[in-house]
Amino acid sequence: MRTLGTLNVPAVGYGAMVLSPGIYGEVDDARGERAIKAALDAGATHIDTSDAYGPDGHNERLVGRAVKGRREDVVVATKFGLAVPDGEDSRSFPVGYAFGELRVNGEARLVRRYAERSLANLGTEVIDLYYAHYPDPGVEIEETVGAMAELVKDGLVRHLGLSNVTAGQLRRAHAVHPIAAVQNEWSMWRPADTELRRAAEELGVGIVAWSPLGNGFLTGTVRELGDGDFRHNAPRFSAENLAANNDRYAPVRDLAVDLGITPAQLALAWLLHQDEHVVAIPGSRTPAHIEENTAAADIRLHPDTLARIDQALARFEVTGGTLL
Ligand SMILES: NC(=O)c1ccc[n+]([C@@H]2O[C@H](COP(=O)([O-])OP(=O)(O)OC[C@H]3O[C@@H](n4cnc5c(N)ncnc54)[C@H](OP(=O)(O)O)[C@@H]3O)[C@@H](O)[C@H]2O)c1
Repeated sequence: MRTLGTLNVPAVGYGAMVLSPGIYGEVDDARGERAIKAALDAGATHIDTSDAYGPDGHNERLVGRAVKGRREDVVVATKFGLAVPDGEDSRSFPVGYAFGELRVNGEARLVRRYAERSLANLGTEVIDLYYAHYPDPGVEIEETVGAMAELVKDGLVRHLGLSNVTAGQLRRAHAVHPIAAVQNEWSMWRPADTELRRAAEELGVGIVAWSPLGNGFLTGTVRELGDGDFRHNAPRFSAENLAANNDRYAPVRDLAVDLGITPAQLALAWLLHQDEHVVAIPGSRTPAHIEENTAAADIRLHPDTLARIDQALARFEVTGGTLL
């Protein structure tokens, strides 16, 4: 277990985004529910979702159904801001996906509406960890967090989080209300923001690493993408870049073989050794993968091994830009 602010969560949790259609391959709701139950059975009792995964709160509704009957044992985390209600305006921000931008609305007047919609989707009375999914470039972060703090006061939410923020934004938000966690991308092929890490440490804020398996790449099993796979929009997964990245990643995969673990486990164990307050939320549709990933929390890497990994990563030149 690790702490995010004052919230206890397992070192390896579970990210449910992959269970909505059109993300990383074929999935249906029955398979999705089985995957979430497998995560809970394996001890990955921190389930991460968002109102923006899948159409009309699809992912939140799936999570709500899957945790029914064991809600008390689960930390349910969700996010708001990208699924802007019809008729409301929004601001765009640039992303590295081929479509170029996403839109967000983090105005205070909408925050309770977002939370009530997520509570209904999840079929729960309270959200354990509630994040602003992306800072609204047209709204001061203090405004968004001020409205989130009201949700805590009124018992709709237990802990607050921010996703895809800078160190400066975290500091400003934390001055309004304690923040339990920041959720940013961090993995073997996406270094952490060092300023953000420093701010999180100083403030006692935990870090939730999104896409800790590099959208699946770091498992060493992604050779080509099927039709309708969202990663077609990600530059690192173009046919040419994917082949080059797989070649260049071979020394890290070989290290996993030497250690008798899988590349996915090496990627997760390496991440957990970077910071005592980082937790991972890998996603998977496959119970065997979920068990494999959760078991990575028990892998101890010797300092010499960590040094070998870091040497291999220093030579791993990734081709293709980042997503956010
Ligand atoms: N805050 C944000 O802006 C943001 C952005 C992106 C993601 N996230 C969060 O981060 C979570 C995880 O990110 P992610 O789903 O993008 O990527 P990820 O966890 O890095 O990778 C998921 C992919 O890896 C494959 N996989 C997982 N374990 C495997 C194993 N042991 N062996 C082989 N393949 C394996 C899965 O395929 P199978 O299904 O075949 O196992 C899936 O395609 C999301 O669910 C979401 O909660 C947040």
